[in-house]
Amino acid sequence: MFVISIAALKRNTRILREVKEAAGCHLVLALKGFSCWKAFPFFRDDLDGCCTSGLWEAWLARDYFQKHIVTYSPAYDEADVAELCGFTDHLDFNSLSQWFRFREMVMAHPRFKSGELLCGLRINPQCSTGETPLYDPCVAGSRLGITAEQLAGADLTGLSGLHFHTLCEQNSDDLEKTLAAVDEKFGYLLNSPQFTYLNMGGGHWITKPFYDRERLVRLVREAREKYHVDVWLEPGEAVAIHTGVLRATVMDVFESAGHRLAILSISATGHMPDVMEMPYRPDVFLVEKPEARNQTQEKMPAVTFEGESYHLAGDPSSNLQSEISNPQFTCRLGGPTCLAGDVMGDFSFHRELKVGDVLVFDDMAHYTMVKTTTFNGVKHPAIALQHEDGEIEVIREFSYADFRDRLS
Ligand SMILES: Cc1ncc(COP(=O)(O)O)c(C=O)c1O
Repeated sequence: MFVISIAALKRNTRILREVKEAAGCHLVLALKGFSCWKAFPFFRDDLDGCCTSGLWEAWLARDYFQKHIVTYSPAYDEADVAELCGFTDHLDFNSLSQWFRFREMVMAHPRFKSGELLCGLRINPQCSTGETPLYDPCVAGSRLGITAEQLAGADLTGLSGLHFHTLCEQNSDDLEKTLAAVDEKFGYLLNSPQFTYLNMGGGHWITKPFYDRERLVRLVREAREKYHVDVWLEPGEAVAIHTGVLRATVMDVFESAGHRLAILSISATGHMPDVMEMPYRPDVFLVEKPEARNQTQEKMPAVTFEGESYHLAGDPSSNLQSEISNPQFTCRLGGPTCLAGDVMGDFSFHRELKVGDVLVFDDMAHYTMVKTTTFNGVKHPAIALQHEDGEIEVIREFSYADFRDRLS
């Protein structure tokens, strides 16, 4: 089961609200990272709306968030643009060819003429600051955003915004470097009165304890004052980081070629694909019951239940052992699909795993629930909210019919 903590979401969005108020900018939730709409009412007051990547997310934002909608997609089709013009507040284009194809239609729309609908271009400042090429829109040959060279001399009539998104899980020092590149390459546009908004994308790790928020506030204020633009931030991860867990059950334990193996009720590829795509190693806790919760543990999962204690598993291949894990009780955790690589990794526990044990995978709310599949017909975990009083509300359960009806 996925369990999302309302208290943790509110903790994050309160921080985001403070930051945006101090900086004098707008801040919207990127739905691609977290779109569990039943949780929206609990933090909607803190944020200005949603960042959407196309028509379906925009409809979700319109129907369930009911605030500002900023839309950017690497490509739109004509029907999508016609529909989006009716309700999105920003419509940002990825290429000049897309803008030229649709600008006549967009500019003829009553909402564009009245100024309710603003259009922008995604720019590529060609300033790589991240470490993972898969998440770097500034790599040579990137399909995301327009370079200064491509933009030079183009007819930009009808546009009023620039949008960049170049960060992924990064601090504000990297934003500072990026803004310097934006200024060098696109400052002449931002300085002209035609451009009234600058969208600084997502990837800002604002709610992490070490994030330098003061610098972010300073950078946003400087940009507003220098260019006389409205600034927008559109984080996804910063809203939902450390707010949810995925609970799994051990279905089988056995040995093969000297490895201890466990098959779980959840799958890496089906339910947390970033573990394989990114890739990264999630924190895993072994749940013990019944026991009073041990508050002295060095680390706790984002969601805890009364009467359970949580024992962080260690990494047998490094010194990253938790206090209580034992390399002797190392187990390779895998999913119940036929994909050989459906593996979460090797984890060492404080005792041997056994069938029926419950494991908690931490930090599974963002970029996880939005990506799940029913590959192999594996049962999809239910989704629950943990309210501030501790009550668990199951908001979605999945059935055979959900699996069957998805493809026909
Ligand atoms: C255009 C755009 N905006 C915002 C985001 C949200 O980024 P994050 O969840 O890292 O804050 C993304 C993520 O890929 C994105 O592509």
